[in-house]
Amino acid sequence: MVMTRYALEDFVGDMQELVATRPSQDQLFDRGSVYLERLIRNPDALPEEFQRPSGTGKRANHGSYALHRSEGLFVSAVVWGPGDRIGPHDHKTWGMIGVMGNAIEETRFRRVDEHDEYVKLEQDRSVLVKPGDVSLLIPEIDEIHAMNNPSDRPTFEIHVYGKDLVGLERYRYDLETGLVKRFASDKFDNC
Ligand SMILES: [Fe+2]
Repeated sequence: MVMTRYALEDFVGDMQELVATRPSQDQLFDRGSVYLERLIRNPDALPEEFQRPSGTGKRANHGSYALHRSEGLFVSAVVWGPGDRIGPHDHKTWGMIGVMGNAIEETRFRRVDEHDEYVKLEQDRSVLVKPGDVSLLIPEIDEIHAMNNPSDRPTFEIHVYGKDLVGLERYRYDLETGLVKRFASDKFDNC
């Protein structure tokens, strides 16, 4: 018997079915992370052109490629070139990040104090997320992170969100000043 590998279409189909059942957050992460683990363990899941930084524009050493967009489900490939990093930001939707190639240093933060435009963040933990691992973004509870690729090779990942990130109002945090900045991307170049 020929076993076919779990491909992006299989994953999207399973996730769409799951989302349609209106699962609780726990059910969503329980099932969804099993699906995503299966997907990222298939080395053919991501075409090679989505495993490299874009090489153009303001963030040439980064890559963000939309793979699927539908109501309640957004899937993308994200590439961090050598030394590529991003400061703390939130997501305002549930998310799952599965690392496929190399590794990413992910630092999580929590809000410990806030007033008007200033927020004090405290570092919660820093983890080196490796191929085959999935990390979860839990809205309001555990969704502020910074990412860094300290290595000399690109890291590539599959990201899954409950909302389309284009136009979604989110926040960036400045660790030094405590200033919080509202942002919404008008095109897909973020994660
Ligand atoms: Fe993020």
